[in-house]
Amino acid sequence: MQDGKLGVAIHGAGWVASAHVLSWKKNPHVQVVSVGDINLERAQQFADNNGLSCAVRDNFDEVLADECVDIVDVSGPSHVHAEQGIAAAEAGKHVLVEKPIALTMEENRALRDAVAKSGVKSITSFVSRFNQEVVTLRSMLQSKAIGELFYAEVDYWHGIKPTHHAWNLHSKKKTGGSTMLLGGCHAIDALRWLVDDEVEELTAYSNNPKGFFEYDANVVAVMKFRGGVIAKASALFDCEMPYSFNIDLAGTEGTLRDNRVWSKKLFPGQTSWSTFPTIMMDSADVMHHSFDEEINYFVECIREDRQPHCNIIDGYRSHELCMAIDRSIEVGGPVKLPLEP
Ligand SMILES: NC(=O)c1ccc[n+]([C@@H]2O[C@H](COP(=O)([O-])OP(=O)(O)OC[C@H]3O[C@@H](n4cnc5c(N)ncnc54)[C@H](O)[C@@H]3O)[C@@H](O)[C@H]2O)c1
Repeated sequence: MQDGKLGVAIHGAGWVASAHVLSWKKNPHVQVVSVGDINLERAQQFADNNGLSCAVRDNFDEVLADECVDIVDVSGPSHVHAEQGIAAAEAGKHVLVEKPIALTMEENRALRDAVAKSGVKSITSFVSRFNQEVVTLRSMLQSKAIGELFYAEVDYWHGIKPTHHAWNLHSKKKTGGSTMLLGGCHAIDALRWLVDDEVEELTAYSNNPKGFFEYDANVVAVMKFRGGVIAKASALFDCEMPYSFNIDLAGTEGTLRDNRVWSKKLFPGQTSWSTFPTIMMDSADVMHHSFDEEINYFVECIREDRQPHCNIIDGYRSHELCMAIDRSIEVGGPVKLPLEP
């Protein structure tokens, strides 16, 4: 805590952090007190570019030992998230962990347990929950604008090449070798958030026609939720088209297709689709993501001593679902959830 503000340490000074920092700087209750990266020069450049005269570090232990640090933003590459998230929680720091929070079930479980044991506030950076299109769709579902939901579909179609990021996206080791974990987790989490239930069984398939990645670049899963909703989610890296995040929701009294509404309940005289103006889920650029809303919400939860809806304990479930999809592909058949008791 510094000058009555919560101290934030950003650790991993790359692309996504360049968006996070703008949101942290806008929040009046926090101050960025540390910027870190495995590459000290990059951390210094990041601090300079963002006008931050704070500690600049390449040593994570120093970050954790700093009493001015209340919140750690784990924004380095995916393979360091669980380890750094666990260390931050054990040091008593509130923690934001970028997705994917874990690359294996062992990591997923260890992170969840460490965060639960420490009692710190945590957030899984599922930024799509804060997107205005998703916020509106969830609100309409909850007010039963389309009656009882019985079918849901969410697709993450992002035509990317392995050279898309500074770190090697093609590499199984660095990414966990999973299209669902790397990008599709946004679709999987949005599906859980919108259906507001847990999947009990799924079957998935994958392929890799272009061979750009060391793992299958395209995945589709069909799922059954405990309450009876049936669903489909896909993640495609090989598609040739602009980024698209498709959301279809069919209910007993209407249908929602992205920002299009068919609801005789809301619009009894409706003769064609109604659309609601909103910020669509149609950009993969981190500068277009709803990090202001995510970070403001996280800070509010810390200040009001409550757990965020997408804390690490909840994020565990979305990652478990992604891993169950990968397991189904591996075993060539249906998989039941939860994977672990
Ligand atoms: N929530 C979202 O919508 C969203 C969007 C983009 C990226 N991401 C996630 O953010 C993470 C980072 O992606 P990026 O595109 O910013 O990558 P990036 O390569 O641009 O940045 C990663 C930074 O981490 C640094 N780094 C490497 N090892 C480190 C370590 N051990 N400790 C600290 N820093 C380390 C690198 O030097 C680099 O500066 C990925 O896991 C990605 O999945 C999430």
